[in-house]
Amino acid sequence: MKGIILAGGSATRLRPASLGVSKQLMPVYDKPLIYYPLTTLLLSGIREILLISTPHDLPQFRRLFSNSNSWGIEISFAEQRNPGGLAEALLIGESFINGGEVSLILGDNLFHGTGLGRQLQDSFVNPGALIAAYHVSDPRAFGVVEFGSDGLAKSLEEKPVIPKSSWAVPGLYFYDETSVDRTKSLQRSPRGELEITDLNRSYLNDSQLRVKTFARGTTWLDMGTPATLLEAAEYVRIVQDRQGLLIGSPEEAAWRSGWIDDQKLLEIASGLKATQYGQLLGKLPEEEK
Ligand code: TTP
Repeated sequence: MKGIILAGGSATRLRPASLGVSKQLMPVYDKPLIYYPLTTLLLSGIREILLISTPHDLPQFRRLFSNSNSWGIEISFAEQRNPGGLAEALLIGESFINGGEVSLILGDNLFHGTGLGRQLQDSFVNPGALIAAYHVSDPRAFGVVEFGSDGLAKSLEEKPVIPKSSWAVPGLYFYDETSVDRTKSLQRSPRGELEITDLNRSYLNDSQLRVKTFARGTTWLDMGTPATLLEAAEYVRIVQDRQGLLIGSPEEAAWRSGWIDDQKLLEIASGLKATQYGQLLGKLPEEEK
């Protein structure tokens, strides 16, 4: 399966911080924000990735990932000229997807939990789509899914006033090869966007939308406001310091997936040895033994 990271948007809720720099390039504790969703895809076993961003920000992403080939992964880039909605990613990525299955992750979502990406991949069934469900205290700000014991979605609502369940839909989706054609037949919403909820509803209407609940103890944060950005940074700092293990390291994910060997990992770590990031990476091969 291939993967798309959607890292455009306008980041209006982060202004003025986002006036000069893309949200997904901002630091979250010790690394750029986009490392977190990228690592989630890599840990799901996905190594062919399309990164979509604005024409203005793409050159910086290209620079950030200019060495990513040496991680044993392939990142390509595409422009989204205007923020036309999340489902637009599937149209922009049509030739990249090339008629296959695809996973879409939002560039500002952080997931953390054992085996999370793999579990989602394993739950994906073709034909169909798979979304995740995360229990939240106040679902009104999210897409909310109601589902049955068969794991199939019953209803899907965007920011409902009276939610039918406490299960929010995080920004990580898995689709069969019909996603592009389905997106082509969607109408733009009143705000002029191709809505991901409408694409998911198209699978729901065919009884093909499956839901995988995240286990308790799994973390899902989105980093769209100053407060949530700071919370995410604190979360990463506390867990990394306590455990001595990195959250959101693509190099570690590539190494764990067997795409780079110990020697390559140590080489990368040595280039970063002035940092906790490099030091923790450098310890991994010895510790695993
Ligand atoms: P949002 O947080 O919904 O939108 P935004 O990033 O533009 O922020 P704000 O609401 O503050 O204006 O977007 C979620 C993710 O999807 C984020 O990583 C940006 C990305 N995105 C796109 O790449 N293209 C789009 O058309 C939209 C709407 C979002």
